[in-house]
Amino acid sequence: ELRICPPTNSQRLLVVANRLPVSATRKGDASWQLEMSVGGLVSALLGITEFETRWIGWAGVNVTDEIGKKSLTKALADKRCVPVFLDEDLVNLYYNGYCNNILWPLFHYLGLPQEDRLATTRSFQSQFDAYKKANQLFADVVSEHYIEGDVIWCHDYHLMFLPKYLKERNNKMKVGWFLHTPFPSSEIQRTLPSQSELLRAVLVADLVGFHTYDYARHFVSACTRILGLEGTPDGVEDQGKLTRVAAFPIGIDPGRFIRAIQLPQIKEHIKELEERFAGRKVMLGVDRLDMIKGIPQKILAFEKFLEENPDWHDKVVLLQIAVPTRTDVPEYQKLTCQVHEIVGRINGRFGSLTTVPIHHLDRSLDFHGLCALYAITDVALITSLRDGMNLVSYEFVACQASKKGVLILSEFAGAAQSLGAGAILVNPWNITEVASSIGYALNMPAEEREKRHHHNFVHVTSHTSQEWAETFVSELNDTIVEAQLRIRQ
Ligand code: G6P
Repeated sequence: ELRICPPTNSQRLLVVANRLPVSATRKGDASWQLEMSVGGLVSALLGITEFETRWIGWAGVNVTDEIGKKSLTKALADKRCVPVFLDEDLVNLYYNGYCNNILWPLFHYLGLPQEDRLATTRSFQSQFDAYKKANQLFADVVSEHYIEGDVIWCHDYHLMFLPKYLKERNNKMKVGWFLHTPFPSSEIQRTLPSQSELLRAVLVADLVGFHTYDYARHFVSACTRILGLEGTPDGVEDQGKLTRVAAFPIGIDPGRFIRAIQLPQIKEHIKELEERFAGRKVMLGVDRLDMIKGIPQKILAFEKFLEENPDWHDKVVLLQIAVPTRTDVPEYQKLTCQVHEIVGRINGRFGSLTTVPIHHLDRSLDFHGLCALYAITDVALITSLRDGMNLVSYEFVACQASKKGVLILSEFAGAAQSLGAGAILVNPWNITEVASSIGYALNMPAEEREKRHHHNFVHVTSHTSQEWAETFVSELNDTIVEAQLRIRQ
């Protein structure tokens, strides 16, 4: 049994992630507009309120002049954020290249870049070098802000070298690393040319965390098979040093959503939306426009459902919110065109002069608008080809206290392991199965809907992001205490 040492009040948490929770746009020499960033990592981390937290990361903007750097640093300080400045060339090779064109697809089982993907970017080695350089820049900024006793929590696939670079600077630092994507089977991982170096860099951390037990298991197998190290029930052992590896399933801050849908202005908005879609069942998809989200497959399954169920033609609408993301990466540009083409074809085929079956939006909604949409939805359709966790499914459940709508969820999303008993699980590649699940969900009797919703609601409201962060930091503290004890013995 692990002892849990809660973080002391004086302990600061340095959260390091490639993207800060706010992204900046320049409005003048020294004036900045800050907007909330999108993505699962940010929505979960915003739920952490009980720590004295500092955020360190990239503000998503290229700033080359000193006035700009100083003024942005000042604007971000009010939000307890510290910027890491990355120049355009580095962003291209590190972020667009190694992170999003190599690691992201690989970790989601889409493999290494095919020839056409390689041809559009510079060589693999230069991307890997840039990745390491960017990780060094993050380590520099973290070291500048580090005070003895701080806990450092590194996030995601962008920062796999950070534990190593931090400990090289100061071996006393307490460093945890958490992956928000799946960690693939070692058979996939071993195709990556630089995998040994990456794995060794991560193993320098005191605690390594994943969303699910399967991802943790894959990581340990990669270390045993690729590095020849010993896997133990607690983690990975290398010459007497244990790196603890465990699963810490993330959650959301459910109260934020539950409170929002009670606000008078949101209730008003819910009413408007209900009137707008009166007489039709509402299906909803909310995704970053990313190939891992399986948006084309989802829309094709909806088409198949319409094809096979003419009675439903004017009685159901699919609202697909597709938030633009990583728009400089060619794969993402191609996906946007592909989705537009399919949506246009289906709306042309099944639409009338007054209605279309799919409303597709290429933008994000503000928080309140999103909550209202979640609340009026009859069926949420989440068909990721792979997904670390997928917190949209959690947000939907949190907003469904009165409607008790149905969640159709990909079996390849981490959330399938926690919401599997309440959701209808589908294989997103199986268009026929997804189409028939849509029919099943739309026709589901109230009693079954309530039962399924209840299961999910209990889970979402009892596994929060706050609790997730507390457990991770407690175990990180505990790992350090155990290591010190071992040294003293
Ligand atoms: C996923 C990743 C996050 C990332 C987010 C948005 O949730 O796990 O690390 O921040 O996508 O992607 P972006 O590239 O815009 O930061």
